[in-house]
Amino acid sequence: MTAILPHGGSLVNKLVTGEERNELLALARELQSIPINAWTISDLDLIGVGAFSPLTGFMNEADYRSVVQRMRLADGTVWSIPITLSVSKEQAKLLAVGEKVALTGEQDGVIYGLLEIGSIYEVDHGEEAENVFKTDDIEHPGVRKLFERSPYYVGGSVQVLNRPQPARFREFYFDPADTRRIFAEKGWKTVVGFQTRNPVHRAHEYIQKSALEIVDGLFLNPLVGETKSDDVPADVRMKSYLTLLENYYPKDRTFLGVFPAAMRYAGPREAIFHAMVRKNYGCTHFIVGRDHAGVGDYYGTYEAQEIFTNFTAEELGISPLFFEHSFFCTKCGNMASSKTCPHPKEDHLTLSGTKVRGLLREGICPPPEFTRPEVAQVLIEGMISQVTS
Ligand code: ADX
Repeated sequence: MTAILPHGGSLVNKLVTGEERNELLALARELQSIPINAWTISDLDLIGVGAFSPLTGFMNEADYRSVVQRMRLADGTVWSIPITLSVSKEQAKLLAVGEKVALTGEQDGVIYGLLEIGSIYEVDHGEEAENVFKTDDIEHPGVRKLFERSPYYVGGSVQVLNRPQPARFREFYFDPADTRRIFAEKGWKTVVGFQTRNPVHRAHEYIQKSALEIVDGLFLNPLVGETKSDDVPADVRMKSYLTLLENYYPKDRTFLGVFPAAMRYAGPREAIFHAMVRKNYGCTHFIVGRDHAGVGDYYGTYEAQEIFTNFTAEELGISPLFFEHSFFCTKCGNMASSKTCPHPKEDHLTLSGTKVRGLLREGICPPPEFTRPEVAQVLIEGMISQVTS
Protein backbone atom coordinates (compact mmCIF):
# COMPACT_ATOMS: atom_id res chain seq x y z
CA MET A 1 0.00 0.00 0.00
CA THR A 2 1.20 3.54 -0.65
CA ALA A 3 1.71 5.63 2.43
CA ILE A 4 -0.89 8.24 1.55
CA LEU A 5 -4.25 7.85 3.27
CA PRO A 6 -7.45 8.15 1.27
CA HIS A 7 -9.41 11.38 1.73
CA GLY A 8 -11.25 11.13 5.05
CA GLY A 9 -8.98 8.32 6.28
CA SER A 10 -10.26 5.12 4.68
CA LEU A 11 -11.20 3.87 1.24
CA VAL A 12 -14.96 3.54 0.84
CA ASN A 13 -16.15 0.26 -0.66
CA LYS A 14 -19.80 0.06 -1.61
CA LEU A 15 -19.55 -2.79 -4.10
CA VAL A 16 -21.80 -5.70 -3.21
CA THR A 17 -20.89 -9.15 -4.52
CA GLY A 18 -21.87 -12.83 -4.24
CA GLU A 19 -25.05 -14.00 -2.52
CA GLU A 20 -25.72 -10.62 -0.93
CA ARG A 21 -25.73 -9.06 -4.40
CA ASN A 22 -28.25 -11.62 -5.67
CA GLU A 23 -30.52 -10.94 -2.69
CA LEU A 24 -30.29 -7.19 -3.12
CA LEU A 25 -30.96 -7.45 -6.86
CA ALA A 26 -34.11 -9.45 -6.09
CA LEU A 27 -35.12 -6.82 -3.54
CA ALA A 28 -34.35 -3.97 -5.95
CA ARG A 29 -36.74 -5.41 -8.55
CA GLU A 30 -39.59 -4.94 -6.08
CA LEU A 31 -38.68 -1.36 -5.20
CA GLN A 32 -39.50 1.99 -6.71
CA SER A 33 -36.84 2.86 -9.24
CA ILE A 34 -35.01 6.10 -10.06
CA PRO A 35 -33.78 6.33 -13.67
CA ILE A 36 -30.12 7.36 -13.92
CA ASN A 37 -28.13 8.55 -16.93
CA ALA A 38 -24.53 7.74 -17.92
CA TRP A 39 -23.15 10.64 -15.85
CA THR A 40 -24.93 9.50 -12.68
CA ILE A 41 -24.00 5.87 -13.32
CA SER A 42 -20.35 6.93 -13.42
CA ASP A 43 -20.75 8.95 -10.19
CA LEU A 44 -22.40 5.95 -8.52
CA ASP A 45 -19.59 3.65 -9.61
CA LEU A 46 -16.88 6.09 -8.48
CA ILE A 47 -18.58 6.35 -5.07
CA GLY A 48 -18.77 2.54 -4.96
CA VAL A 49 -15.08 1.96 -5.57
CA GLY A 50 -13.97 4.70 -3.18
CA ALA A 51 -12.67 7.16 -5.79
CA PHE A 52 -14.93 9.73 -4.12
CA SER A 53 -14.01 8.72 -0.54
CA PRO A 54 -15.22 9.78 2.00
CA LEU A 55 -18.56 9.97 0.16
CA THR A 56 -20.67 6.88 0.76
CA GLY A 57 -23.54 8.00 -1.44
CA PHE A 58 -25.16 10.93 -3.18
CA MET A 59 -25.00 14.04 -1.05
CA ASN A 60 -27.63 14.66 1.56
CA GLU A 61 -28.93 18.19 1.98
CA ALA A 62 -26.52 19.23 4.77
CA ASP A 63 -23.44 18.11 2.82
CA TYR A 64 -24.76 19.61 -0.41
CA ARG A 65 -25.38 23.06 1.11
CA SER A 66 -22.09 23.04 2.94
CA VAL A 67 -20.16 22.04 -0.21
CA VAL A 68 -21.86 24.69 -2.33
CA GLN A 69 -21.27 27.44 0.22
CA ARG A 70 -17.90 26.64 1.76
CA MET A 71 -16.24 23.80 -0.20
CA ARG A 72 -16.49 21.44 2.75
CA LEU A 73 -18.74 18.58 3.73
CA ALA A 74 -20.94 19.28 6.77
CA ASP A 75 -18.25 17.73 9.02
CA GLY A 76 -15.62 20.14 7.65
CA THR A 77 -13.80 17.72 5.30
CA VAL A 78 -12.60 19.47 2.13
CA TRP A 79 -14.93 18.79 -0.83
CA SER A 80 -15.56 21.21 -3.65
CA ILE A 81 -18.03 19.69 -6.14
CA PRO A 82 -21.61 18.55 -5.37
CA ILE A 83 -22.13 14.87 -6.18
CA THR A 84 -25.87 14.66 -6.41
CA LEU A 85 -28.80 12.66 -7.70
CA SER A 86 -31.60 14.58 -9.34
CA VAL A 87 -35.16 13.29 -9.75
CA SER A 88 -38.26 14.72 -11.39
CA LYS A 89 -40.63 16.78 -9.24
CA GLU A 90 -43.31 14.09 -9.69
CA GLN A 91 -40.99 11.36 -8.48
CA ALA A 92 -39.73 13.46 -5.56
CA LYS A 93 -43.33 13.55 -4.27
CA LEU A 94 -43.53 9.75 -4.32
CA LEU A 95 -40.33 9.19 -2.32
CA ALA A 96 -39.87 9.17 1.44
CA VAL A 97 -36.87 9.47 3.73
CA GLY A 98 -35.78 6.06 5.02
CA GLU A 99 -37.06 4.25 1.93
CA LYS A 100 -34.79 2.14 -0.28
CA VAL A 101 -34.96 2.66 -4.03
CA ALA A 102 -33.36 1.00 -7.05
CA LEU A 103 -31.08 3.07 -9.31
CA THR A 104 -31.75 1.90 -12.85
CA GLY A 105 -30.00 2.86 -16.09
CA GLU A 106 -32.44 4.95 -18.12
CA GLN A 107 -31.06 3.55 -21.40
CA ASP A 108 -30.40 -0.09 -20.58
CA GLY A 109 -32.72 -0.88 -17.66
CA VAL A 110 -29.80 -2.33 -15.66
CA ILE A 111 -30.15 -2.02 -11.88
CA TYR A 112 -26.85 -0.37 -11.01
CA GLY A 113 -27.47 0.08 -7.33
CA LEU A 114 -29.61 0.78 -4.32
CA LEU A 115 -30.04 4.04 -2.49
CA GLU A 116 -31.27 4.45 1.07
CA ILE A 117 -32.90 7.86 1.08
CA GLY A 118 -31.45 10.21 3.69
CA SER A 119 -32.98 13.44 2.40
CA ILE A 120 -35.12 14.87 -0.38
CA TYR A 121 -34.56 18.54 -1.11
CA GLU A 122 -35.06 21.29 -3.62
CA VAL A 123 -32.09 23.38 -4.72
CA ASP A 124 -31.53 26.73 -6.34
CA HIS A 125 -29.57 26.01 -9.52
CA GLY A 126 -28.66 29.67 -9.88
CA GLU A 127 -26.99 29.64 -6.48
CA GLU A 128 -25.23 26.33 -7.19
CA ALA A 129 -23.97 27.66 -10.54
CA GLU A 130 -22.69 30.95 -9.08
CA ASN A 131 -20.85 29.16 -6.30
CA VAL A 132 -19.50 26.12 -8.11
CA PHE A 133 -18.93 27.55 -11.61
CA LYS A 134 -18.61 31.23 -10.67
CA THR A 135 -21.17 32.05 -13.36
CA ASP A 136 -24.78 31.34 -14.24
CA ASP A 137 -24.10 31.82 -17.94
CA ILE A 138 -25.94 29.08 -19.82
CA GLU A 139 -23.15 29.09 -22.45
CA HIS A 140 -20.86 27.51 -19.86
CA PRO A 141 -21.06 23.74 -20.55
CA GLY A 142 -21.18 22.80 -16.85
CA VAL A 143 -23.85 25.38 -16.09
CA ARG A 144 -25.89 24.24 -19.09
CA LYS A 145 -25.79 20.64 -17.82
CA LEU A 146 -26.79 21.81 -14.36
CA PHE A 147 -29.80 23.77 -15.59
CA GLU A 148 -30.94 20.78 -17.68
CA ARG A 149 -31.42 18.79 -14.46
CA SER A 150 -34.44 18.87 -12.20
CA PRO A 151 -33.79 20.94 -9.04
CA TYR A 152 -35.12 18.09 -6.84
CA TYR A 153 -32.29 16.10 -5.33
CA VAL A 154 -32.28 12.87 -3.36
CA GLY A 155 -29.37 12.04 -1.07
CA GLY A 156 -28.37 8.91 0.77
CA SER A 157 -25.88 6.07 0.95
CA VAL A 158 -25.61 3.63 -1.93
CA GLN A 159 -24.77 0.04 -2.67
CA VAL A 160 -23.43 -0.88 -6.10
CA LEU A 161 -24.91 -4.01 -7.66
CA ASN A 162 -23.77 -3.71 -11.28
CA ARG A 163 -20.88 -1.79 -12.78
CA PRO A 164 -20.86 0.06 -16.10
CA GLN A 165 -19.00 -1.95 -18.74
CA PRO A 166 -16.50 0.04 -20.78
CA ALA A 167 -16.87 -0.51 -24.51
CA ARG A 168 -13.14 -0.07 -25.16
CA PHE A 169 -9.76 0.10 -23.41
CA ARG A 170 -11.02 -2.13 -20.61
CA GLU A 171 -7.45 -2.92 -19.59
CA PHE A 172 -6.91 0.67 -18.52
CA TYR A 173 -9.73 0.76 -15.96
CA PHE A 174 -8.37 0.47 -12.42
CA ASP A 175 -10.13 1.04 -9.12
CA PRO A 176 -8.36 2.99 -6.36
CA ALA A 177 -7.63 -0.26 -4.52
CA ASP A 178 -5.88 -1.55 -7.69
CA THR A 179 -3.77 1.55 -8.32
CA ARG A 180 -2.74 1.72 -4.68
CA ARG A 181 -1.56 -1.91 -4.87
CA ILE A 182 0.17 -1.36 -8.24
CA PHE A 183 2.05 1.75 -7.09
CA ALA A 184 3.22 -0.17 -4.00
CA GLU A 185 4.33 -3.13 -6.13
CA LYS A 186 6.32 -0.76 -8.30
CA GLY A 187 8.00 0.54 -5.18
CA TRP A 188 6.81 4.09 -5.83
CA LYS A 189 6.73 6.10 -2.62
CA THR A 190 5.76 9.29 -4.41
CA VAL A 191 3.38 9.37 -7.36
CA VAL A 192 2.23 12.39 -9.31
CA GLY A 193 -1.27 12.32 -10.80
CA PHE A 194 -1.98 14.02 -14.12
CA GLN A 195 -5.54 14.88 -15.10
CA THR A 196 -6.28 15.57 -18.74
CA ARG A 197 -9.19 15.73 -21.13
CA ASN A 198 -6.92 16.47 -24.08
CA PRO A 199 -4.25 14.78 -26.14
CA VAL A 200 -0.86 15.14 -24.46
CA HIS A 201 0.94 17.92 -26.29
CA ARG A 202 4.51 19.04 -25.63
CA ALA A 203 3.47 21.46 -22.86
CA HIS A 204 1.72 18.64 -20.99
CA GLU A 205 4.73 16.39 -21.52
CA TYR A 206 7.05 19.09 -20.25
CA ILE A 207 5.20 19.61 -16.97
CA GLN A 208 4.74 15.86 -16.45
CA LYS A 209 8.43 15.23 -16.97
CA SER A 210 9.42 18.19 -14.79
CA ALA A 211 7.34 16.56 -12.04
CA LEU A 212 8.84 13.18 -12.82
CA GLU A 213 12.27 14.62 -12.08
CA ILE A 214 11.26 14.86 -8.42
CA VAL A 215 8.84 11.97 -7.79
CA ASP A 216 9.04 8.19 -8.31
CA GLY A 217 6.18 7.67 -10.73
CA LEU A 218 3.71 9.38 -13.05
CA PHE A 219 0.08 8.30 -13.06
CA LEU A 220 -1.30 9.49 -16.39
CA ASN A 221 -4.99 9.55 -15.56
CA PRO A 222 -7.03 10.92 -18.47
CA LEU A 223 -10.68 11.63 -17.85
CA VAL A 224 -12.79 9.51 -20.18
CA GLY A 225 -16.31 10.19 -18.92
CA GLU A 226 -18.67 12.68 -20.53
CA THR A 227 -16.93 15.69 -22.11
CA LYS A 228 -18.26 18.45 -24.33
CA SER A 229 -18.74 17.51 -27.96
CA ASP A 230 -15.81 19.49 -29.37
CA ASP A 231 -13.24 17.84 -27.05
CA VAL A 232 -11.21 15.06 -28.72
CA PRO A 233 -13.06 11.73 -28.17
CA ALA A 234 -11.62 9.49 -25.46
CA ASP A 235 -10.76 6.54 -27.71
CA VAL A 236 -8.70 8.72 -30.05
CA ARG A 237 -6.96 10.24 -27.03
CA MET A 238 -6.22 6.82 -25.58
CA LYS A 239 -4.46 5.78 -28.78
CA SER A 240 -2.46 9.00 -28.69
CA TYR A 241 -1.38 8.42 -25.05
CA LEU A 242 -0.24 4.89 -25.85
CA THR A 243 1.79 6.10 -28.80
CA LEU A 244 3.41 8.84 -26.76
CA LEU A 245 4.23 6.60 -23.80
CA GLU A 246 5.68 3.97 -26.10
CA ASN A 247 8.03 6.44 -27.76
CA TYR A 248 8.95 9.05 -25.18
CA TYR A 249 8.40 7.87 -21.59
CA PRO A 250 10.33 5.52 -19.32
CA LYS A 251 8.11 2.42 -18.99
CA ASP A 252 9.04 1.70 -15.40
CA ARG A 253 8.15 5.17 -14.21
CA THR A 254 4.80 5.78 -15.87
CA PHE A 255 1.40 4.19 -15.47
CA LEU A 256 -1.68 4.81 -17.60
CA GLY A 257 -5.16 4.34 -16.17
CA VAL A 258 -8.39 6.13 -17.02
CA PHE A 259 -10.56 8.29 -14.80
CA PRO A 260 -14.12 7.38 -15.84
CA ALA A 261 -15.74 10.56 -14.49
CA ALA A 262 -17.67 13.29 -16.27
CA MET A 263 -15.94 16.60 -16.88
CA ARG A 264 -17.60 19.46 -15.02
CA TYR A 265 -15.54 22.37 -16.42
CA ALA A 266 -15.67 23.98 -12.97
CA GLY A 267 -12.08 25.26 -13.17
CA PRO A 268 -10.73 26.05 -9.68
CA ARG A 269 -13.26 23.97 -7.75
CA GLU A 270 -12.74 21.05 -10.08
CA ALA A 271 -8.98 21.25 -9.49
CA ILE A 272 -9.56 20.63 -5.77
CA PHE A 273 -11.95 17.79 -6.59
CA HIS A 274 -9.49 16.26 -9.07
CA ALA A 275 -6.73 16.40 -6.47
CA MET A 276 -8.82 14.74 -3.73
CA VAL A 277 -9.85 11.95 -6.08
CA ARG A 278 -6.25 11.32 -7.19
CA LYS A 279 -5.29 11.08 -3.53
CA ASN A 280 -7.82 8.26 -3.29
CA TYR A 281 -6.13 6.54 -6.23
CA GLY A 282 -2.88 6.68 -4.23
CA CYS A 283 -1.15 9.76 -5.65
CA THR A 284 0.97 11.84 -3.31
CA HIS A 285 1.26 14.77 -5.74
CA PHE A 286 -1.05 16.32 -8.31
CA ILE A 287 -0.27 18.60 -11.24
CA VAL A 288 -2.21 21.82 -11.64
CA GLY A 289 -1.08 23.88 -14.61
CA ARG A 290 -2.66 26.84 -16.29
CA ASP A 291 -6.46 27.13 -16.36
CA HIS A 292 -6.94 23.61 -15.00
CA ALA A 293 -10.40 22.22 -15.92
CA GLY A 294 -11.28 25.60 -17.34
CA VAL A 295 -13.34 26.47 -20.37
CA GLY A 296 -13.59 29.70 -22.39
CA ASP A 297 -12.61 32.76 -20.38
CA TYR A 298 -14.55 31.97 -17.24
CA TYR A 299 -11.52 31.53 -14.97
CA GLY A 300 -8.24 33.34 -14.50
CA THR A 301 -5.13 31.53 -15.76
CA TYR A 302 -3.95 30.62 -12.25
CA GLU A 303 -7.22 30.63 -10.29
CA ALA A 304 -7.19 26.84 -10.11
CA GLN A 305 -3.86 27.12 -8.27
CA GLU A 306 -4.83 30.02 -6.03
CA ILE A 307 -7.89 28.19 -4.69
CA PHE A 308 -5.59 25.73 -2.87
CA THR A 309 -4.65 28.50 -0.41
CA ASN A 310 -8.10 28.09 1.18
CA PHE A 311 -6.95 24.84 2.75
CA THR A 312 -4.07 23.67 4.91
CA ALA A 313 -1.59 21.07 3.67
CA GLU A 314 -2.93 18.64 6.31
CA GLU A 315 -6.52 19.08 5.12
CA LEU A 316 -5.55 18.46 1.52
CA GLY A 317 -3.23 15.55 2.25
CA ILE A 318 -1.93 15.55 -1.35
CA SER A 319 0.69 18.04 -2.55
CA PRO A 320 -0.35 20.12 -5.55
CA LEU A 321 2.46 20.84 -8.00
CA PHE A 322 1.80 24.13 -9.74
CA PHE A 323 3.11 24.90 -13.21
CA GLU A 324 3.18 28.13 -15.15
CA HIS A 325 1.93 28.34 -18.70
CA SER A 326 4.49 26.34 -20.72
CA PHE A 327 5.51 26.71 -24.35
CA PHE A 328 8.32 26.03 -26.80
CA CYS A 329 10.71 28.97 -27.00
CA THR A 330 12.42 29.27 -30.37
CA LYS A 331 15.30 31.28 -28.89
CA CYS A 332 15.91 28.88 -25.98
CA GLY A 333 15.35 25.94 -28.34
CA ASN A 334 13.40 24.09 -25.67
CA MET A 335 10.21 23.93 -23.63
CA ALA A 336 10.02 26.60 -20.99
CA SER A 337 7.77 28.89 -18.99
CA SER A 338 8.10 32.50 -17.88
CA LYS A 339 9.94 31.10 -14.86
CA THR A 340 12.77 29.78 -17.03
CA CYS A 341 12.72 31.76 -20.28
CA PRO A 342 13.84 35.41 -20.66
CA HIS A 343 12.56 35.91 -24.22
CA PRO A 344 9.49 37.87 -25.33
CA LYS A 345 6.18 36.33 -26.39
CA GLU A 346 7.04 36.63 -30.08
CA ASP A 347 9.68 33.92 -29.60
CA HIS A 348 7.17 31.52 -28.04
CA LEU A 349 5.20 28.97 -29.97
CA THR A 350 1.65 28.85 -28.66
CA LEU A 351 -1.37 27.50 -30.51
CA SER A 352 -4.95 27.58 -29.30
CA GLY A 353 -6.91 24.34 -28.98
CA THR A 354 -9.24 25.54 -31.74
CA LYS A 355 -6.33 26.23 -34.07
CA VAL A 356 -4.79 22.80 -33.41
CA ARG A 357 -8.10 21.00 -33.97
CA GLY A 358 -8.47 22.96 -37.24
CA LEU A 359 -5.04 21.83 -38.46
CA LEU A 360 -5.65 18.20 -37.51
CA ARG A 361 -9.02 18.18 -39.21
CA GLU A 362 -7.32 19.30 -42.43
CA GLY A 363 -4.80 16.51 -42.03
CA ILE A 364 -1.97 18.92 -41.20
CA CYS A 365 0.48 18.04 -38.41
CA PRO A 366 1.00 20.89 -35.93
CA PRO A 367 4.70 21.79 -35.54
CA PRO A 368 6.73 19.08 -33.73
CA GLU A 369 7.58 21.68 -31.08
CA PHE A 370 3.88 21.68 -30.25
CA THR A 371 2.85 18.03 -30.77
CA ARG A 372 5.00 14.94 -31.25
CA PRO A 373 4.57 13.79 -34.90
CA GLU A 374 3.50 10.26 -33.81
CA VAL A 375 0.76 11.78 -31.68
CA ALA A 376 -0.33 14.16 -34.44
CA GLN A 377 -0.65 11.20 -36.82
CA VAL A 378 -2.96 9.34 -34.43
CA LEU A 379 -5.05 12.45 -33.92
CA ILE A 380 -5.36 13.11 -37.66
CA GLU A 381 -6.48 9.50 -38.27
CA GLY A 382 -8.94 9.83 -35.38
CA MET A 383 -10.40 13.05 -36.79
CA ILE A 384 -10.75 11.51 -40.25
CA SER A 385 -12.53 8.39 -39.00
CA GLN A 386 -14.84 10.63 -36.93
CA VAL A 387 -15.82 12.58 -40.02
CA THR A 388 -16.31 9.49 -42.19
CA SER A 389 -18.14 7.34 -39.60
S1 ADX B 1 -8.15 19.74 -18.01
O1 ADX B 1 -9.37 20.45 -18.31
O2 ADX B 1 -8.32 18.32 -17.97
O3 ADX B 1 -7.47 20.28 -16.83
P1 ADX B 1 -6.02 19.81 -20.03
O4 ADX B 1 -6.10 18.43 -20.51
O5 ADX B 1 -5.94 20.89 -21.01
O6 ADX B 1 -7.32 20.17 -19.24
O7 ADX B 1 -4.83 20.02 -19.03
C1 ADX B 1 -4.29 19.04 -18.22
C2 ADX B 1 -3.36 19.68 -17.21
O8 ADX B 1 -2.28 20.35 -17.89
C3 ADX B 1 -4.01 20.75 -16.34
O9 ADX B 1 -3.42 20.73 -15.06
C4 ADX B 1 -3.65 22.04 -17.06
O10 ADX B 1 -3.63 23.11 -16.16
C5 ADX B 1 -2.26 21.72 -17.56
N1 ADX B 1 -1.86 22.45 -18.79
C6 ADX B 1 -2.42 22.35 -20.02
N2 ADX B 1 -1.75 23.10 -20.93
C7 ADX B 1 -0.75 23.72 -20.26
C8 ADX B 1 0.30 24.65 -20.62
N3 ADX B 1 0.47 25.08 -21.87
N4 ADX B 1 1.13 25.06 -19.65
C9 ADX B 1 1.00 24.63 -18.37
N5 ADX B 1 0.05 23.77 -17.98
C10 ADX B 1 -0.82 23.32 -18.89
